[in-house]
Amino acid sequence: MYTILITVAIITGITTSLAILLTLADAYIADYGEKKIIINQEKEFIIDGGSSLLSSLVSQNIFIPSACGGKGSCGYCKCKINSGGGPVLVTELSYLTKDDLKNDIRLSCQVKVKNDIAIEIPNELFNVKRYEATVETLEDLTNKIKLIRLKITSNDPSTIEFKAGQYIQLTAPPYGNNSEEVYRAYSIASATKDIHYINLLIGYVERGIVTTYVHKHLSQGNSLTFTGPYGDFYLQNTDSEIILVAVGTGMAPILSILYELLEERSPRKTTFFFGARTKSDLFMLEEMEMFEKELPNFKFVPTLSRPTEEDNWQGNIGRVTNAIENLIDKGDSTREAYLCGGTSMINSTVEVLLEKGMQEHLIYYDKFD
Ligand SMILES: Cc1cc2nc3c(=O)[nH]c(=O)nc-3n(C[C@H](O)[C@H](O)[C@H](O)COP(=O)(O)OP(=O)(O)OC[C@H]3O[C@@H](n4cnc5c(N)ncnc54)[C@H](O)[C@@H]3O)c2cc1C
Ligand code: FES
Repeated sequence: MYTILITVAIITGITTSLAILLTLADAYIADYGEKKIIINQEKEFIIDGGSSLLSSLVSQNIFIPSACGGKGSCGYCKCKINSGGGPVLVTELSYLTKDDLKNDIRLSCQVKVKNDIAIEIPNELFNVKRYEATVETLEDLTNKIKLIRLKITSNDPSTIEFKAGQYIQLTAPPYGNNSEEVYRAYSIASATKDIHYINLLIGYVERGIVTTYVHKHLSQGNSLTFTGPYGDFYLQNTDSEIILVAVGTGMAPILSILYELLEERSPRKTTFFFGARTKSDLFMLEEMEMFEKELPNFKFVPTLSRPTEEDNWQGNIGRVTNAIENLIDKGDSTREAYLCGGTSMINSTVEVLLEKGMQEHLIYYDKFD
């Protein structure tokens, strides 16, 4: 028994060492030479082979969405590879559906450019740019959420064009024990006409790299970079009734959508269900009053899940889904919904909205986790 254990330990040790050696050799010794990336059969770039497709594209100022910074843990960086991508890797499998695999969709952060490679990406991604900015204001909205207003300082591009609801990727520089740049997705909370600035609402996540940087290390006047805009979650140009649902920082893209409706003086019937735990977790209340005054058919419905006695709360109590169940009629299948927040809130809200007769393809959402 003892001999078997020793043999297994030796074999495991040898295979692990070989795997580490191969990885190091691939990273530091392998020279793949120059390789060609062909995009949408029309654009071509020559790059030094060996890096991930995602970072090779970034080196050419082409930015594919990536909420995890290339770690293979968000599934956002999918792109179609027509040739040269090599076999699908184990690290991609949990994010690729059967349809993805059938259609040659891959995770661009996991695919290394070792051959000439032909890919397809949506044309909108050519509009994604890298911006330099300074922190104009940094304000506590609650004890866990900060509003950051960034002023764009780069000369080219010096303005940002985006659709209400889209997001950017903010880069935190190395700090503390974190030795590399890290980027994360944040929804734009400001109006689309505000082209020299963007507002973000950033919640504190315990031990989170970027949120700790923003909450504990960032100050007014500091410089930052971001890329964007990204995303297919944005206000659709129709006349339909709108249901908006958010919790916490999920209010960010909803604010931008409300500014857009305000800009259009939209008569669309719009109800915004916002969930928080206690009264101290509510914010932007003056802004909501302003929208209620200026938009003819807008109603703000805050809902507290755990109001305290001191809150003396007279409004809705429970989860946002309870408020939707109580206040939304069954019927009108042309209504659109825009939801933002964590996966469990979004999944349960979609269920309730479907029960209210809404069509699945008219329920748009961005999951923040
Ligand atoms: C499209 C999109 C838009 C987004 N918009 C916003 C926004 O407007 N405002 C905003 O604050 N966030 C937003 N997020 C979330 C944001 O991108 C980050 O995931 C979040 O800020 C945490 O980043 P971090 O680097 O601090 O944490 P990380 O270092 O990535 O995570 C550290 C640890 O915390 C856990 N964790 C990560 N996020 C959460 C969370 N939300 N709740 C609980 N645990 C978590 C992780 O599993 C990990 O264990 C958005 C995400 C997406 C995909
Ligand atoms: S960048 Fe997150 S999975 Fe590729």
